[in-house]
Amino acid sequence: MPTHDLVIIGAGPGGYVAAIRAAQLGLKTAVIEKEQALGGTCLRIGCIPSKALLESSEHFTVAKNKFAAHGIKLSGLELDLAAMLKRKDQIVTNLTKGVEGLLKKNKITRYLGHARFIAPGQVEVDSGAEKITLEAKNIIIASGSKPASLPNIQIDGLRIATSTEALSFPEVPKHLVVIGAGFIGLELGSVWLRLGAKVTVLEYLNRILPGMDSEIATEAQRIFERQGFDFRLGRKVTSATPQGNGAVVECDPGEKIECDRVLMSVGRVPNTENLGLETLGIKTDKRGRIETTDFATSVPGIFAIGDVIAGPMLAHKAEEEGVACVELIATGHGHVDYNTIPGVCYTHPEIASVGKTEDQLQEEKIAYRKGSFPFRANGRALTLGDVDGRVKVLADEKTDRVLGVHIIGPRAGELIAEATAAMAFGASSEDIARTCHAHPTLPEALKEAALAVDGRAIHF
Ligand code: NAI
Repeated sequence: MPTHDLVIIGAGPGGYVAAIRAAQLGLKTAVIEKEQALGGTCLRIGCIPSKALLESSEHFTVAKNKFAAHGIKLSGLELDLAAMLKRKDQIVTNLTKGVEGLLKKNKITRYLGHARFIAPGQVEVDSGAEKITLEAKNIIIASGSKPASLPNIQIDGLRIATSTEALSFPEVPKHLVVIGAGFIGLELGSVWLRLGAKVTVLEYLNRILPGMDSEIATEAQRIFERQGFDFRLGRKVTSATPQGNGAVVECDPGEKIECDRVLMSVGRVPNTENLGLETLGIKTDKRGRIETTDFATSVPGIFAIGDVIAGPMLAHKAEEEGVACVELIATGHGHVDYNTIPGVCYTHPEIASVGKTEDQLQEEKIAYRKGSFPFRANGRALTLGDVDGRVKVLADEKTDRVLGVHIIGPRAGELIAEATAAMAFGASSEDIARTCHAHPTLPEALKEAALAVDGRAIHF
């Protein structure tokens, strides 16, 4: 029976990063992955292909709507969707092959097949063709998540799709109905809207982007509506049924919408099925997530990280947990700072945040000061022709320590890194305000928002 120091179930960003860290620390490590391509949802059917399409579709929009303002005349602009999809697929192939190379370089053994616990310290790998049993003192479950569905909705992958199929629609839908105004709905809704689809978003709540700072979400909604998104809020979708070449979506109370494609984006659920958790008595919570304390499950020697445990379902959160979990196993020390995990929605403009939202501070009765700075007063944003949005800095009223930063605007996903680093080092808004920022750059908007906490913004 092959024996390893550590076996990891799943080769997504959580699993493969944990494996590399384990190899660095001298552990004889194996990874079990049921898909041929490594990299998990993020690389194969999530973050990477969606960002590739977001980039391509944004170029299309810019060429169509914004080149003229730059004095660039274009005629005969055409969409070649097949080429756009092919480019996306090539990026995915490059990256998944890259992960394969990294595993080899780090001498990590890869097993292809579905993993299932059969006894303490033993995992069976079923490749379809054969079954082998691996033995390990420590096992990490990093099996990720899959799209959630709703009762009465049968996902057929054709008319009623998840994010996976919505990354490869062979033609631009005439009318796409998106169920759920979260990250996936807005990102993939943006792709198809930019390429010419009519996009209707049905959202159960009375707002978009639940969990995001509500002031920023309201601004986002206004901007997206201007782009053409049709948001219908406070809609509980009760069914979606294929009909002819399209589908019919029904909402409470009695609203029917006909469309040619539906995207289900109502959240994700942990992948815990058929892992043999019950064989060992590994406990899960009401939402099916594996219960952990410092990544340790209820069974000694078995750990879990990423989407399969509590917390935001984000690739970088899983990576941090993978490293911390392995360091705990190998050295007894490992830590994740959950207060400084950024979140980015790659719409245009992008939306990014780290730390507490204003809503949370109010709920938790934490006294704060707020500084806000609009991109329309930032020189670099003006030269980019990208002036929608703002930076908002929230700092503790007494200590001035930065508690949260929320950005909607050009390249917000890149801008949030400075705020995250500052928060990780326990910075005050004064620290950011007194840091010299190159001019003209977008990060100057963060500096100005930090200055604005104390009423000292220079350019607004
Ligand atoms: P989400 O949890 O972000 O949003 C789902 C939305 O569906 C919510 O607004 C919810 O109120 C709504 N909803 C639920 N039931 C409904 C019903 N019956 N009718 C109408 N609306 C309903 O989930 P999403 O967008 O599917 O994303 C899943 C996960 O993937 C999230 O954890 C997200 O953070 C992550 N993700 C992250 C990305 C990024 O970091 N850029 C990109 C894509 C996904």
